[in-house]
Amino acid sequence: MCGIVGYVGHSAGRVNTGHNALDVVLEGLRRLEYRGYDSAGIAVVADGTISSRKKSGKLSNLIAELDASPLPESLTGIGHTRWATHGGPTDQNAHPHLADEGKLAVIHNGIIENFAELKLELTRKGVTFLSETDTEVAAALLADIYRNQLGGDSANGGLTKAMQLACQRLEGAFTLLAVHADQPDVVVAARRNSPLVVGLGDGENFLGSDVSGFIDYTRRAVELGQDQIVTITADTVEITDFYGAPAEGKEYHVNWDPASAEKGGFPSFMEKEIHDQPDAVLQTLLGRSDINGRLTLDELRVDPELLKNVSKIIVLACGTSAYAGQVAKYAIERWCRIPTEVELSHEFRYRDPIVDENTLIVSISQSGETMDTLMAVRYAKEQGAKTVSICNTNGSTIPRESDAVLYTHAGPEIAVASTKAFLAQITAAYLLGLYLAQLRGNKFQGEIKDILADLNKIPAKIQQVLDNEEQIKELGRSMADAKSVLFLGRHVGFPVAMEGALKLKELAYIHAEGFAAGELKHGPIALIEEGQPVFVVVPSPRGRDSLHAKVVSNIQEVRARGARTIVIAEEGDEAVKAYAEHVFYIPETPTLLAPLLSTVPLQIFALALASAKGYDVDQPRNLAKSVTVE
Ligand code: G6P
Repeated sequence: MCGIVGYVGHSAGRVNTGHNALDVVLEGLRRLEYRGYDSAGIAVVADGTISSRKKSGKLSNLIAELDASPLPESLTGIGHTRWATHGGPTDQNAHPHLADEGKLAVIHNGIIENFAELKLELTRKGVTFLSETDTEVAAALLADIYRNQLGGDSANGGLTKAMQLACQRLEGAFTLLAVHADQPDVVVAARRNSPLVVGLGDGENFLGSDVSGFIDYTRRAVELGQDQIVTITADTVEITDFYGAPAEGKEYHVNWDPASAEKGGFPSFMEKEIHDQPDAVLQTLLGRSDINGRLTLDELRVDPELLKNVSKIIVLACGTSAYAGQVAKYAIERWCRIPTEVELSHEFRYRDPIVDENTLIVSISQSGETMDTLMAVRYAKEQGAKTVSICNTNGSTIPRESDAVLYTHAGPEIAVASTKAFLAQITAAYLLGLYLAQLRGNKFQGEIKDILADLNKIPAKIQQVLDNEEQIKELGRSMADAKSVLFLGRHVGFPVAMEGALKLKELAYIHAEGFAAGELKHGPIALIEEGQPVFVVVPSPRGRDSLHAKVVSNIQEVRARGARTIVIAEEGDEAVKAYAEHVFYIPETPTLLAPLLSTVPLQIFALALASAKGYDVDQPRNLAKSVTVE
């Protein structure tokens, strides 16, 4: 939620690194735009003054503004791409916000919860505000402290000291970046509960909401802790806490290639990421079992005795990640016989949940920054639970604050609506489930080996689904006028149905609902009228519990009421043909693993339908990829 970039290039007298702050910051914003695209803005320090431009709408609007009204060359700059919280997506509310008579520029990600009271206090001191944002209040507070409390004297600790004092007064979640005309070679940043990473260059340093903000320039990154201030110059990075005590950052190497965050010849990131899925699953499986079919999740680093004693698992996640959790529940309960609940993170901690030291919390988050999930994990830890994070973003906050992490290796996911991360999350959850089953002796080694062998065949099977994508694309394009689409599924097909509906809502802005097929008769069937499109995720006819027959009956029930049925079924399932207008076949696979295949046609359908409507599938309206506010 909101992307932030900061840059300081070489100091006078050193070899010119050749980077103009504007170029570096714009490139960073381009890569971070998935975090929010309600407005964008940039400020540079040049010739002893701050120059800034900001514009509502996508980054392209800001670029057009910069073309019309260029900024001066500079070595110090900050930039922001916004997902609106306080105040609408207008030019006026766009960041940066200026204070100290235009000498200070501030950008912000998060929500300052006590902004109203601070605003009143500053207004009484004579400050006038131009926007409705909490950010402008933080800027005014910083300016007031710098100018009136510290005498505007950089020798007196300057902007860094002012930031420390300001942060002591701020409540809520924030990443703040500030530049001041008095200190043209410095960017000061603060972090509480919102993400911020430092990038280390040679004669230049960077700040970003995540490493993609500077990945074109350096792979050396430094993690910041909570409640820390960092001051960067071209040559130095100094970290303190909010009270000025020095702190250490942990350096790490970013191991993904900038090219993996490009579209690679596809018209959109989403389409590319859908096509990345065979590799995303493969990478997540790689190196996690030995040739004897034993899981080797050494990276988990949780005492095996603790895992053996787990009496309950609670999966915490939001959005698509929560549907991955729903799939995980079926697998974990079947394989490990541990009661498993899945709960939306934001509901969890407000209902006094029953959690103790034998509870294992499994959080699932692509970004590792989702505030709702972070807060839920913290709450569970306070209650004594052990926490494992399934996460796609190395070094992000949720895995860092968890007892253990199982990284998904889907590579950077840029499109706002999640695709490859979802399949990778399900894969990682299966691995965790099998590992627990192995530790606790719920499954014979041979059984685990067989399931792993089936899992290892999945990447090639996803590729098979992708090779037949034209058929589902065509259907998607032909349904561009649909007003509502329903999705039905049973067992693991239920979360798949909900994910199919979510993709359509997110991308095509049409009403879509996923239902448990068995629930149909208890209400949703009233929605069916002549021509209503209904997708049905049909389980394998080879599976147990006559699930297949039940779902086929559900198809007949909706068809009898006029529905237009579109079926995702397993190859060889001839029975469904009689009841479906369209059938899309996926390769044979055990029922529990089927979501890794049956989700894919639904993603492609949503992509094709939304593209036919002319919508931007990478940046759907009102959404942001990384939701760092509660
Ligand atoms: C946002 C995104 C979704 C994502 C959800 C959870 O709402 O738009 O695509 O599933 O956040 O994000 P996480 O990073 O925690 O998986």
